Amino acid sequence: MSKPMQKLSIGVDVGGSSIKCALVDTASGQRLERHSVPTPAQGSIEDMLESIASAVDKLPAALPVGLAFPSVIVRGTVRTAAHLNKGWIGRPLGELASRRLGRAVTAINDADAAGLGEQRYGAARDVRGTVLLLTLGTGIGSALFINGQLVPNTELGHLRVGDREAEERAAPRIKVERDLSWDAWTDELNLVLREMHALLWPDLVILCGGITEEPENFFSKLRCEAELRIGTLRAEAGIAGAALATTLGDT
Ligand code: BGC
Repeated sequence: MSKPMQKLSIGVDVGGSSIKCALVDTASGQRLERHSVPTPAQGSIEDMLESIASAVDKLPAALPVGLAFPSVIVRGTVRTAAHLNKGWIGRPLGELASRRLGRAVTAINDADAAGLGEQRYGAARDVRGTVLLLTLGTGIGSALFINGQLVPNTELGHLRVGDREAEERAAPRIKVERDLSWDAWTDELNLVLREMHALLWPDLVILCGGITEEPENFFSKLRCEAELRIGTLRAEAGIAGAALATTLGDT
């Protein structure tokens, strides 16, 4: 069988601490050349665009860019800013980034991008039914798929679980801020998983984010009625999915 032809795009993932980008073969999901710069999370809009450009400008010029951003994105416009400068709300990220980068830009929520990555190339590949992917980092992001179709901007990290939002219980940031032991943090994540499961009854839940690089510290203690998997693209699911988004049109 002949290999499918390479179709290259640039994937960018704006995370809490770093902006990562890579050249991605969207046929296979393979990441080819990577760069990363620190995220100016509370910096101005200009600072953020400048940092994104400083990473992307190291990659070939003419390629389209998929930009994963930690906020609700509706048709290219930022609608929320939980851990960003609030000045982003209402700003047309896709347009602004496209002007700054001189490339076509598809902007997408970061968890939706990670979900697209895992769904096309990773742990949710060929899985039918309801799939919930959670990214665990500064916040908790969510991506929901029904028979392979993304329901964008689900924002389940802001679901109230008891007296707090899910991400204020179980984001890895909280583990650090409150100096929680692995067991205490795993208990919080179990509460979050239970609440989300009771609402959606997913067939499969996939966990992504840097903390999933150390599954030995918590994975065996997780309790969920759905099957649980760790994402296979690890920290690069968002980059791969953002690049893929450039080939999909509006998500
Ligand atoms: C934001 C989401 C984002 C998630 C992960 C949340 O605080 O509201 O849009 O996907 O963090 O970055």
